[in-house]
Amino acid sequence: MNESPSLANLLKEERRFTPPAELAARANVTATAYEQAENDRLGFWATQARRLTWGTEPTETLDWSNPPFAKWFADGKLNVAYNCVDRHVEAGLGDRVAIHFEGEPGDTRTITYADLQREVSQAANALTELGVTAGDRVAIYLPMIPETIVAMLACARIGAPHSVVFGGFSADALATRIEDADARVVITADGGFRKGNPSALKPAVDEALTRPGTERVRHVLVVRRTGQPDVEWHEERDLWWHEVVDRQPEQHTPQDFDAEHPLFILYTSGTTGKPKGILHTTAGYLTQVAYTHHAVFDLKPESDVFWCTADVGWVTGHSYIVYGPLANGATEVLYEGTPDSPHKGRWWEIVEKYGVTLLYTAPTAIRACMKWGDEIPAKFDLTSLRILGSVGEPINPEAWVWYRHHIGGDRTPVVDTWWQTETGGIMISPLPGVTNAKPGSAQVPLPGISATVVDDEGQAVPDGGGGYLVLTDPWPAMLRTIWGDDERFRSTYWSRFEGSYFAGDGAKKDEDGDVWLLGRVDDVMLVSGHNISTTEVESALVAHPKVAEAAVVGATDPETTQAICAFVILRGAVTEAEGLTEELRTHVAKQLGPIAKPKRILPVAELPKTRSGKIMRRLLRDVAENRALGDVSTLTDTSVMDLIQAKLPGAD
Ligand code: WT7
Repeated sequence: MNESPSLANLLKEERRFTPPAELAARANVTATAYEQAENDRLGFWATQARRLTWGTEPTETLDWSNPPFAKWFADGKLNVAYNCVDRHVEAGLGDRVAIHFEGEPGDTRTITYADLQREVSQAANALTELGVTAGDRVAIYLPMIPETIVAMLACARIGAPHSVVFGGFSADALATRIEDADARVVITADGGFRKGNPSALKPAVDEALTRPGTERVRHVLVVRRTGQPDVEWHEERDLWWHEVVDRQPEQHTPQDFDAEHPLFILYTSGTTGKPKGILHTTAGYLTQVAYTHHAVFDLKPESDVFWCTADVGWVTGHSYIVYGPLANGATEVLYEGTPDSPHKGRWWEIVEKYGVTLLYTAPTAIRACMKWGDEIPAKFDLTSLRILGSVGEPINPEAWVWYRHHIGGDRTPVVDTWWQTETGGIMISPLPGVTNAKPGSAQVPLPGISATVVDDEGQAVPDGGGGYLVLTDPWPAMLRTIWGDDERFRSTYWSRFEGSYFAGDGAKKDEDGDVWLLGRVDDVMLVSGHNISTTEVESALVAHPKVAEAAVVGATDPETTQAICAFVILRGAVTEAEGLTEELRTHVAKQLGPIAKPKRILPVAELPKTRSGKIMRRLLRDVAENRALGDVSTLTDTSVMDLIQAKLPGAD
């Protein structure tokens, strides 16, 4: 049985960690921010918007006349890349390091804000030469290298919304996203380095572009990263980045775009299999990511070194590697590889080398480090660290306390930040100079954010109660719609509870009114911080010639939050030969990417279904978690569950 504390235990958490006095005394944000925002929420956000440099200052804050379609700062205009780069150079900070790049093989690059301005300008000129104009979509499929940030900022600079596709996704996933966004250009690389070896990317692009629906891609711009030989080349279509970008002028005049101009699309899994293209726009998004980065990490741009370990392909990378830190003129680390390559102390070596002061990572990484042993981080000097952040899934109290003790030397506040691709920026989090931190809880909404926990009827629960997390007022970085599908936007997020945004997370409020996040309530699984839909994995399994039917559930897992557990009915003549489940697991990994590989696969004779033919995943989850079965009365055939359970012992 696993050791993870039950909810009752969580709510009895009595450890408290007060902010260090010195940090509190110099904190960017103090308790008065909550009051200010409470008294005048829109005025508060209008003030935060002044962190940005506008071409045309907005006179309006929020237009909520047509909910759920919000407009923030709608009559203002600005350029996002100018805000993230040029304005810092104009302020005399051109020599400040923007990015300390650490490649996996150990190669490094130091990029100042002046360097970044030149590179982004050249890339913007190159995209313009390739015919990309404002409004055209550009797909970006790259490893964690400086060109990824340059490419994103170049798109922002010319008003071309980018759609970054995580480099670990398959050709299929890439093709679906290119098609849905109707991208005209794809920016990729020959490959990236992973666990000591080059890993190719370009072949996946070549394959994706053979799929129907991707014909409108005019060019593929290829960064040379690994120098792999034999890169397949399509004359006319394919161009080397260094050949096209390096010869461009180093000046480019940024043009201002409307506050609501689309900035990017980022896909997130949905329950119906088709991923949702989450649309974020310009000024509200930038306001909130800049403010939250300043507030939650207490950023002092002249002295801090920030490091967010996420991949740029996820929203965490968009908001807290690219837009938030750079809008704030921060110095940050960008690391290409994994935490254990070439050794399990690699991250801590990087913290020591660059004097990282603010670290932002995920519970799954923290748990892996716990497993590898306390003695590994102990070998490095981590005394530069002053704040530690966590994001992506609930962090169990023991991991929180380990993080603070072994990484933070018992000095550093830990900020557990709750948010989503859809929210664009951090929503619920402690403030490091204000909050008495409670391990395992994200605690309270940030100033200017309205969130609560409601029951099935949409009534706010009292302290001590549980239900669903909802956001009760619009916020600047909120998604504006699902790309091309306003109706799905409305039905997914705004129909469950009248007037509120349904986040899809279960939550509890403890006796102090602090919020505890309890994971997804719908059929999206959360595996090591990644959202994966049950339907996608089922579809992949059923696509295998030996599988007739499949039902997938996320079972609670101490290491990855949820583990994918699949129940499959084999095709008639197929028997359970040795190696079959391994074959199926590999098949899913190949179809959807390694993150979607099921941990367990159980061949069964039948699946529990309701009379309307809906698979009862709830019961399968009970089985996968070794629990007594819940209500089986709506099953067509209750003996099905006996058969499934009979298979269990040793079925792994
Ligand atoms: C889902 C959003 C936010 C960027 C990374 C994931 C879960 C996220 C926390 C947290 C508990 C969390 C939620 C949320 N989640 N942060 N601090 N505590 N759960 O973005 O892929 O859009 O996933 O991640 O379930 O709904 P995403």
